[in-house]
Amino acid sequence: MNGARKLSTLGWPPMDKMLLRNFILDLLQSCMFTMLGVFLLGPVAVSAAESTTGLKSVVDEFEGAFPKSIQSNGRVREFELIAAESGWGLVPPYQAGTWSYNDQIPGPTLRIKLGETLQVRLINKLAEPTSIHWHGIRVPNAMDGVPSLTQASIKSGSEFTYRFTPKDAGTFWYHPHVRSAEQVERGLYGVVVVEDPGEPEYSREWVWILDDWLIDNNRTIVDTFVTRHDLAHDGRWGNYLTVNGQHRPGYSAKPGERIRIRMVNVANARVFAPEISTVRATVIAVDGMLTESAFPLDRFILAPGNRIDVDFIVPANSKGAVLDVVDRFSRKPEVLASVRVEPTEAIKTPHFDAPSAKHFPNWNQVLEMPVFHNFVLDAERGGHYGIVWTIDGQAWPERNVVTLKTNRFYRLRFSNLSSRLHPMHLHGQFFKLIARNGQSVDERFWRDTVLIEGNESVDIGLVPLDKGNWATHCHILEHAEAGMMSVLQVE
Ligand code: C2O
Ligand code: CU
Repeated sequence: MNGARKLSTLGWPPMDKMLLRNFILDLLQSCMFTMLGVFLLGPVAVSAAESTTGLKSVVDEFEGAFPKSIQSNGRVREFELIAAESGWGLVPPYQAGTWSYNDQIPGPTLRIKLGETLQVRLINKLAEPTSIHWHGIRVPNAMDGVPSLTQASIKSGSEFTYRFTPKDAGTFWYHPHVRSAEQVERGLYGVVVVEDPGEPEYSREWVWILDDWLIDNNRTIVDTFVTRHDLAHDGRWGNYLTVNGQHRPGYSAKPGERIRIRMVNVANARVFAPEISTVRATVIAVDGMLTESAFPLDRFILAPGNRIDVDFIVPANSKGAVLDVVDRFSRKPEVLASVRVEPTEAIKTPHFDAPSAKHFPNWNQVLEMPVFHNFVLDAERGGHYGIVWTIDGQAWPERNVVTLKTNRFYRLRFSNLSSRLHPMHLHGQFFKLIARNGQSVDERFWRDTVLIEGNESVDIGLVPLDKGNWATHCHILEHAEAGMMSVLQVE
């Protein structure tokens, strides 16, 4: 960065200690790896190729975790999305300055079945360029929606048709990848549900899109975006929480019903940790992908970009009760939505095993694998906004491209040298969290986004399957806008 100064010299905590610790951990880990090699293989040198691309068994265990390709069944589901200023208020009758798809917030839920081809004609009636990124869907690279990387941006008054066959069933979402700190904040987002006809049927299924808005006393969206304050902190946090565009909406259900909620965090920056009062809810899918087995919801950290599919039974004895869904991430708990239980007799609860991943690798030995690349996350003074957020010292569009090969195992590290949150999102890949600050974490599910806390280092493991130039960025959209985006090239 030209003329940029390290923020850490400007009162931000110095992080040298952490660098040192990571260095020592690396050293220990590579020693352990060599020792293990010697122990297992006798005094045979571990080849460089093996140490960077992984033990064969790690790749073998991955086999079948999720499909490498999909055969389209020939059915094409066509949708049209018109991006435009809405001219209506978030809180009627006020003008809120919302922008939307098809004049609705959230945009339409695009529901298709696994094997079908999704075709979406995007018409840009905004006064500025836009694009759509299909968050979490493994698409051909040219359909990924990242201007200057995978396509040209779609100019005002023009259109673009996206077409692909999703390889995975699950809960995904779509949003612009142009000036997203403003475009997403104003309401341009929606959900894609790819149904697997083999999954059991719930009594009810809801899609809940969690967002927060920063509005002033006139209930109008505060129209200063990517402020210095947002950049020096964890992005733009709103003061008006909504589920599907409504503040504290009410839902109703019958006692005994088994419900699946597909929760999506589309907020620019806010992290949620949802809890459903008095019921035992479980998580059956994270970031669209089914988990190895269901686990208690227990205030799951739902960072920007993350999704969870929640499974719960409305207690048979809860006639007339109100179940609140509460966010517990922030110090002050906030009700997101309420479920009113109808005062009727309980229905017979459908009994089935929650859907789960067909195969999930053990990957017991991944902590012995060397780190292939350490992404350094930091901030500096400078740039258009006064602060730039960097990955490996580069601020987008400058970047240090990291190249991976398909069908090999990689351990990647994110080292956060700042005291701020960074939910890091990888386009085109699912990964497994393997360690935080060098301590093993065995999550039994895939992710496409993981929250990295201040001064934390996070290790992930993945086997790339899809070739292309994939954006990798912080999903705090203000941080991304101010440079925190890079590229993983898979060849
Ligand atoms: Cu929702 Cu580039 O991400
Ligand atoms: Cu960030």
